[in-house]
Amino acid sequence: MKKNISVVPMLVKKNLRLAGRMAYAFYKIGRARLFPKHDFGFNHMKNLGLVYFKPTGACNLRCVMCGQYGDKGVMNDCAAEENKKTLPLETWKKFVDEIAPHKPVIYVWGGEPFLYKDLFPLCKYMVEKGLFVSLNTNGTMMEKHAEQIVRDKWSGIFVSLDAFRDVNDAMRGKGAYDKVIAGFRALNREKEKQKAKYPILGIVTVVTNKNYMDLVNLAEASREYSLDLHIFNLGTYTNDSIVAAQKRFMKEKLDTDIDCLEAYNTGYNSGIDGQKLHDILMGIHKVNYGHPMITVPVLNPDKTHTYYAELETPVRNRCIVPWCQVNVNYNGDVHFCADYPDYILGNITQQSFREIYNGERANQFRKTLNECDGGLFPGCLRCYQNMLFGKKIKGY
Ligand SMILES: C[S@@+](CC[C@H](N)C(=O)[O-])C[C@H]1O[C@@H](n2cnc3c(N)ncnc32)[C@H](O)[C@@H]1O
Ligand code: SF4
Repeated sequence: MKKNISVVPMLVKKNLRLAGRMAYAFYKIGRARLFPKHDFGFNHMKNLGLVYFKPTGACNLRCVMCGQYGDKGVMNDCAAEENKKTLPLETWKKFVDEIAPHKPVIYVWGGEPFLYKDLFPLCKYMVEKGLFVSLNTNGTMMEKHAEQIVRDKWSGIFVSLDAFRDVNDAMRGKGAYDKVIAGFRALNREKEKQKAKYPILGIVTVVTNKNYMDLVNLAEASREYSLDLHIFNLGTYTNDSIVAAQKRFMKEKLDTDIDCLEAYNTGYNSGIDGQKLHDILMGIHKVNYGHPMITVPVLNPDKTHTYYAELETPVRNRCIVPWCQVNVNYNGDVHFCADYPDYILGNITQQSFREIYNGERANQFRKTLNECDGGLFPGCLRCYQNMLFGKKIKGY
């Protein structure tokens, strides 16, 4: 078993700037861990390591497991109304001006970020401010924009690809796989033509009961795409009783009604043979596919079965997200939890970000979390964001 940090030497060899930026984010997040009790009266901006930008809630795909547009997606009935709330470029730029001095890693996601009409000027602005600008995309629109992506020096693109062609398309929609591959090829051509190292290219794979037996096929196919990274995300899952416990807790402690956790009660964890998946991932991590492989959450491989079959058993403790990360939504609302935008800290159209991040609602959330058993709310047992980074945890 390796520690999660063991991927760093390979990253350094592959791409020094990426490794440096990741190390800096780790450092800030580690620093946030050292001061777990800070809530009121502390300038939390100092430890801001990772900022999620969600410039649009719109999407062109309907991936089955997605918390927004999947079987139980929260956006399914309200996307048209919600999309009218999209912020103008100028508001985003003001927000960028405020966070840029703290040099957080930027992670643009959505919805599908390529559907935000001002995505290119926004990313260009952030790159010019010296930020490491990465995007998470379904990759279906990369091909036609490849020239500009490289020209504008985006730092990284993490493309969602869940399996080899047929299995991937059964989860993400017909034709999705081939569009992504056409996008990778176009980007690699452009990088060569423009003699550019950026963007670094990665795949993010969500593990479900539909694709776990096909992960090796995808890993094999990925040899051809000149990647810098492949992330296996074990997926976010919950069940009825966890949702009920979280609803009660959030109402009682933070006077908040929650809707978003239920969207991950999909059942796509059920039937996964934990031992089989353990062996598959162990096998993948042993092979050199030409780029580093990371499995997140960083968890002890022996807990793989527990992860899927016993959703109520914690596999990690203490969430540190509110001490080092933040998500800003398409309407300007600020949240700590990117996937569960129920508790709103404030809105960047009404207050400065600093006031919001150090404000009463943010600190009340931090204080409540600090007082929880194990430093976790009852609904957060399989939250991806909490488990992105781990200290001294052995993983795959
Ligand atoms: C919601 S998507 C938004 C960005 C873009 N539309 C995409 O698909 O990459 C963000 C990431 O969440 C992943 N995702 C979707 N459903 C998930 C789930 N149930 N658990 C964990 N990750 C999930 C997606 O595959 C993607 O990598
Ligand atoms: S492309 Fe992304 S946001 Fe759209 S449905 Fe799929 S996972 Fe969800």
